[in-house]
Amino acid sequence: MGKIILTGDRPTGKLHLGHYVGSLRRRVELQNAGDFDRMFVFMADVQALTDNADNPEKIRQNIIEVALDYLSAGLDPEKCTLFIQSQIPELAELTTYLMNLITVSRVQRNPTVKTEIKMRNFEANIPLGFFCYPVSQAADIALFKATTVPAGEDQEPMIEVTRELVRRFNQTYSEVLVEPEIMLPENATARRLPGTDGKEKMSKSLGNCIYLSDSAAEVWKKVKKMSNGAPRMSMDEPGNLEGNAVFTYLEAFSTPDDFAEFWPEYKTLEELKDHYVRGGIGDGTTKKFLNNVLNKMLEPIRERRAEYEKDIPEIYNILRKGSEAARETAAQTMDEVRRAMQIDYFNDAALIQQQAEKFRK
Ligand code: TRP
Repeated sequence: MGKIILTGDRPTGKLHLGHYVGSLRRRVELQNAGDFDRMFVFMADVQALTDNADNPEKIRQNIIEVALDYLSAGLDPEKCTLFIQSQIPELAELTTYLMNLITVSRVQRNPTVKTEIKMRNFEANIPLGFFCYPVSQAADIALFKATTVPAGEDQEPMIEVTRELVRRFNQTYSEVLVEPEIMLPENATARRLPGTDGKEKMSKSLGNCIYLSDSAAEVWKKVKKMSNGAPRMSMDEPGNLEGNAVFTYLEAFSTPDDFAEFWPEYKTLEELKDHYVRGGIGDGTTKKFLNNVLNKMLEPIRERRAEYEKDIPEIYNILRKGSEAARETAAQTMDEVRRAMQIDYFNDAALIQQQAEKFRK
């Protein structure tokens, strides 16, 4: 059995640097390393609708935003299958059957869903579709027989539910589905990039994001306003690294090449940090450096975006072709699922024959 990578995002907003370090950059690396049999990346619009039922326009707008983010970050439709969840009706079908193999109390135990219910003030009135989305997510993974799911820690409970459902399915019917493994981000900053305020996690609702689609001018405006931790009276005072978003971002994004190109006085971030905490480096200077680092990374992304934006119908074409390809795989698994569940009546000649004999007088 080969390696099948699958992952996705809810299309509820443009992607930002937190998404980039947390997942997108890794996906592009995985894609280019080519160490897999298939790689799928999809937009989970069905899942996004579970708590946006009254706002389909938001999802529809963000499908194209996220697709542009994917493509401009370097996901390549020649190497990985990009698709839209709602275009795969087999997902809904598998979800229905998986629901029979899990209890309400098991779904209720999911810590990620519990937190989300609180955040959305759903306590008294949880939409049933929202409550069940972990089962739908298990179907997303199982339908493609994914072995490897790159995702954040918050997705661990979903993968656990998926593994249980796969085991239950295979025991109850026959060995059709595959137990996936989660592939967590490799380091702490990748797991949780703070926003430009230096405190909370970068997120749209907190207004502390730098978007992949931001222009160079927008990036500079946001970098200028970034937090430096505890304030200093002058640059000669020792600098603080605690709560200093500029240094957290340098940690996440700067490379020795960036130093050689933009600040050759230092070879590495360690050297810069040592000097900064001794005092003598102004925050304006570290911000200019960070701005250069970010723009160097974002510039190729912006260039690709500008190209893709010239032909939006082609983006829909890419997504349509990806969805068609994904559906072929989905249909194959569903044939196996239906056979295992003995609901493939019309393809089962033996069954028809048997029944005919039983009723023959
Ligand atoms: N729940 C994921 C998120 O909010 C999105 C998602 C849906 C997903 N189905 C998936 C991720 C399957 C990985 C695999 O980000």
